[in-house]
Amino acid sequence: MKEAEQVPFSRCGIWRSHREFFVAEGISAWNGRVPFYVTSNPYLAHAYATIIVRFLQDRRAAGGPVEGPALVLELGAGTGAFSYQVLRCLVELTGAVPDLAADLCYVMSDISERNLDFWSSHPAFAPFLEQGLLDFAFFDVESSGRLDLRVSQRVVERRPGQPAPPLVVIANYVFDAVPPDFFRLEDGRLSEVLVPESLTLPPNEEANASFEITRIDGSRWHGVAEPRYAPESVDRVLRDCAASQIEGGFLFPAAALGCLARLRETIAHEILLLVADKGILAPASIPEASRLTLGLHGGCASSLLDFYALECFARSQGGDAYTCQTEGIVTAAYSLGAEFSELPETRLALAQFLGVFNPGYLYDVVHYFQASKPGARLETLIALLELTLWDPYVVDQFFDVLLASLPYAGSYGIGKLSENLHRVADNFFYLPSAPDTFFQLGVLLQEMQHHDEALRAYEASLSWFGEVAGTLYRMGQCCHALRRVDDAVGWFRRALQQRPDFVEARGWIAQIEEDRREERHVDESGHP
Ligand SMILES: C[S@@+](CC[C@H](N)C(=O)[O-])C[C@H]1O[C@@H](n2cnc3c(N)ncnc32)[C@H](O)[C@@H]1O
Repeated sequence: MKEAEQVPFSRCGIWRSHREFFVAEGISAWNGRVPFYVTSNPYLAHAYATIIVRFLQDRRAAGGPVEGPALVLELGAGTGAFSYQVLRCLVELTGAVPDLAADLCYVMSDISERNLDFWSSHPAFAPFLEQGLLDFAFFDVESSGRLDLRVSQRVVERRPGQPAPPLVVIANYVFDAVPPDFFRLEDGRLSEVLVPESLTLPPNEEANASFEITRIDGSRWHGVAEPRYAPESVDRVLRDCAASQIEGGFLFPAAALGCLARLRETIAHEILLLVADKGILAPASIPEASRLTLGLHGGCASSLLDFYALECFARSQGGDAYTCQTEGIVTAAYSLGAEFSELPETRLALAQFLGVFNPGYLYDVVHYFQASKPGARLETLIALLELTLWDPYVVDQFFDVLLASLPYAGSYGIGKLSENLHRVADNFFYLPSAPDTFFQLGVLLQEMQHHDEALRAYEASLSWFGEVAGTLYRMGQCCHALRRVDDAVGWFRRALQQRPDFVEARGWIAQIEEDRREERHVDESGHP
């Protein structure tokens, strides 16, 4: 019988089907299967945007002629939800430093053309495209080098020997989603684990299943010939990892490191890399089985990213690392080509935005509130909303508690909600799987008697989510409260078109007609 072909782990069938999943599914990958909140929320975006602006100021202060705008390249941008939040913050922050804004280009990239199509037609991105602040690119972490920008048609490639504008790379939840290789270290001897080429993911429909790769049938180990990788910088990191105290199997993020080496070669020598991902700072400190467990998300996989390897790479490139581990994720910044001591503004921003209350903690706090939801007070939920920068996700999760608390709320709570609910609307980013946050905002505003604003929220709900009888009905109620009775009847009628058995809508129309008859009667008789 012919022996099955054995290949490095990164080349087995698991990663082929994983890649095909993202390419084929496009935006529908995020219909409850692939998690994204933890790496795509407004708080993290605000932290990144501030760090980016500080980094650009540092680079500017360092001087030197450069050609072309500074680039922020987001790898594996997926839904685009995070890009949207970062772009909004960048516009706001650079408002105070106009020439920074004029010299900036944010590039959203992915390997799924379907994602690029989704972004291109998403109205949220139109203003940034008009300003020339945004561009899109197909960029494969495993192989791409230069950037072919889709909108401006510009090619970004460094000319040898020429100084290049600064480059910021955002890699949220993407380096753990590109294929790693599999090595073992035993008694100081490094070997590579080869696995059957046909190895596939077990069937998994659940959003958060897992798969241990400690024992794979048909795998074998062999000694590692030097050099295992080109470029040599990646090979050196493998040796660094092997020299750490690790025992047993570990996954090595060769594709991620190769991508960074290529970006340095082809785009910019100095790079600020911002990463938020499921991973480990010191792989040697956790059990082998945990290092070798893949997360499965209904068709794709994720590994635990080895942040130690990223740090070794950054330091080997004359750079630096700033990392923070929380229970859920690691958030980290790496400078390639310069130490943070040479970037004083950046270093301050890192200390403030990743060091004081790290974005990773936010998820734990929101999670805790979810678990203890029925007991949450409005005033405490307001603190949570402030902390999350008025995140639509929090309103979606706590809508019922917010609504139930309104009749008992004091002026502090009502005042805060009235002042800030528009920020939730500003943070909203439409996805096909998104809940109708605008409807919820409308209900809260209506309950607080802000009928005009409630109407605007319901109108936004109609434009994103289409006509729903309940929304049309509530618009009728708002118009009635604003004494726009004809409009009110119009909305109630539309609600009835959607749902002919909508008794309450019929009741409102009957009541309005009755009121009109009475008014006419009073006018004609002259008596009240
Ligand atoms: C888990 S999602 C993360 C999306 C987003 N960054 C976030 O935090 O929610 C991984 C993303 O990486 C993309 N991706 C997968 N393989 C890639 C590769 N080789 N190069 C670039 N992007 C890749 C996928 O299409 C997907 O959009």
